[in-house]
Amino acid sequence: CGIIGYIGDRKACEVIVKGLKRLEYRGYDSVGVVTEENGKLYIKKGVGSVDEVTERLKLLDMPGKRGVGHTRWATHGVPNDINAHPQKDCTGKIALVHNGIIENFAELKKELVEKGHTFESDTDTEVIAHLIEEELKSSENFEEALRKALLKLKGSFALGIVYTEEPDRLYFVRNESPLVLGIGEGENFAASDVPAFLEYTNRVVFLDDMEYAVVTKESWVVKRLETGEEVEKEVKTIDWTLEMAEKAGFEHFMLKEIFEQPRVLRDAIHGNAKVIGDVAREIADYEKIFIVAMGTSYHAGLVGKYLLQRLAKKVPIVEDASEFRYEFEDLIDENSLVIAITQSGETADTLAAMKLAKRKGAKVLAIVNVVGSMATRIADLTLYTHAGPEIGVAATKTYTTQLAVLTMLAIELARTLGTADEEYLKELEENLRRVPDLIEDILNLNEPLRELAEGLKDRENFFYIGRGIGVPTALEGALKLKEISYIHAEGLSAGELKHGPLALIEDGVPVVAIAPKGRTFDKMLGNIEEAKARGAHIIALGSSERLREVSDAFIEMPDLDEILTPIPYIVPLQLLAYHLAVLRGNDPDKPRNLAKSVTVE
Ligand code: G6P
Repeated sequence: CGIIGYIGDRKACEVIVKGLKRLEYRGYDSVGVVTEENGKLYIKKGVGSVDEVTERLKLLDMPGKRGVGHTRWATHGVPNDINAHPQKDCTGKIALVHNGIIENFAELKKELVEKGHTFESDTDTEVIAHLIEEELKSSENFEEALRKALLKLKGSFALGIVYTEEPDRLYFVRNESPLVLGIGEGENFAASDVPAFLEYTNRVVFLDDMEYAVVTKESWVVKRLETGEEVEKEVKTIDWTLEMAEKAGFEHFMLKEIFEQPRVLRDAIHGNAKVIGDVAREIADYEKIFIVAMGTSYHAGLVGKYLLQRLAKKVPIVEDASEFRYEFEDLIDENSLVIAITQSGETADTLAAMKLAKRKGAKVLAIVNVVGSMATRIADLTLYTHAGPEIGVAATKTYTTQLAVLTMLAIELARTLGTADEEYLKELEENLRRVPDLIEDILNLNEPLRELAEGLKDRENFFYIGRGIGVPTALEGALKLKEISYIHAEGLSAGELKHGPLALIEDGVPVVAIAPKGRTFDKMLGNIEEAKARGAHIIALGSSERLREVSDAFIEMPDLDEILTPIPYIVPLQLLAYHLAVLRGNDPDKPRNLAKSVTVE
């Protein structure tokens, strides 16, 4: 979900609706706004996208110069008008929006019902409003009631709260869901993410877990939820321009972000050149290495595993973060290194895994895109991917930049440990610096790839096969296709094909083969023949003439050391998935049922 709040002299609804548009990638099943004027709350909310709801409910006609808004991704209660946020208490004086999930909401709701509260929605959020109302009965003031209520909650919450009796202020709270304040002149903002208010201010204050802010148009203060004591916070200046967060002339954010890859890869390489050596030296001695992440970042982790194995002769365990917490608890100790990879720095499972690692005394290195995000505050060491804001739900540029950082890290580790020849490492570094240019050439294949997609758009099953360091590319290629085109796709190691999946290959089934020259190229050709013999339609990515001859469609890739191939090889697969999604009438930026940042476990 996404939250935005405003207090100042502008029409609050205008700032809020604009902010919600920029937050839509965080969830978009329903939208709602509350504003206040002369002690009266105005609430409008409903199912649909920000544009639809703004139009249908005339959100831009709402009075008031303070308010909060919400774009929802349902966790408790189906997406409908009643479950949309804001939610209010019985008196109608407290209205709030929430991002996160309250684990103990059923117990709390039961107690409140026994005390006479009546509920309208199925949401966990409504419980928070009633709980504050209840605490208000025995508190000196609203702030005290707020603190007492929130300390009873178990779970994650970022909140924006309006209370009619205190017309000069808004409250914002953060615990395990992101929230950042935007500091203006005679006006202030708060949101789940910076682009929501970047048009008005680039001065920001990141809240930490269990902190809340009291914000008026002229002032702001951050306090601890437990004690109510003030916390000193640093105001940071963000150097993203708003343009960076907008579409720059492309039809979709995803396409724009795919095309940004050469530039952001250069940024990632430059941005880490100075720091990577120190980080590598600091982690070089660890033998017990875990890599944790979710989704696309998890696939980057799998590439990281091959890189560390081949270059640094380390044998890391890669685990999806939601599994790691439960399976590895006893195995992590102060001799462990945990590398967490997360674009947003806010993925609940990844943060939980990192916190566990910290608790067990492990060293935690985070590879993150969002500056100041929670992951960077938990980690001992952070490397940034420098990809800029990514709006498309399907990760593209943040994946390739993660791979660039991991490649640099593996090279530096090998150098520190003396596990690879210096000549060879230098050559790899030089070639890595060439990769952005090579991707520029690959992007010229956009039109041929669109044509290829035309011929494939009615297929219902795809297979992606690879070997060695190409296996994660197969997995990620398949994930991209599933996420946005809704075509069933499986990624697997080519060797596994004949242990089951081959039974599904029949005439015309597309098999995408990731086949760079390298250790297993000949084996790969054999696997392609196996599939072809069963009628598969072979789409091959590689740089060999022999490969071109056996394939039905050949996507020519630059001739590169196998170690560097995951970065360029994913690019045509991103484009293929993008075109298939568009040709099938889907909005690739907003795949159904998915959210950019999954801040619930
Ligand atoms: C969600 C997104 C994916 C992303 C994953 C992990 O599922 O839709 O694109 O890969 O979360 O996100 P993170 O921010 O931790 O990389």
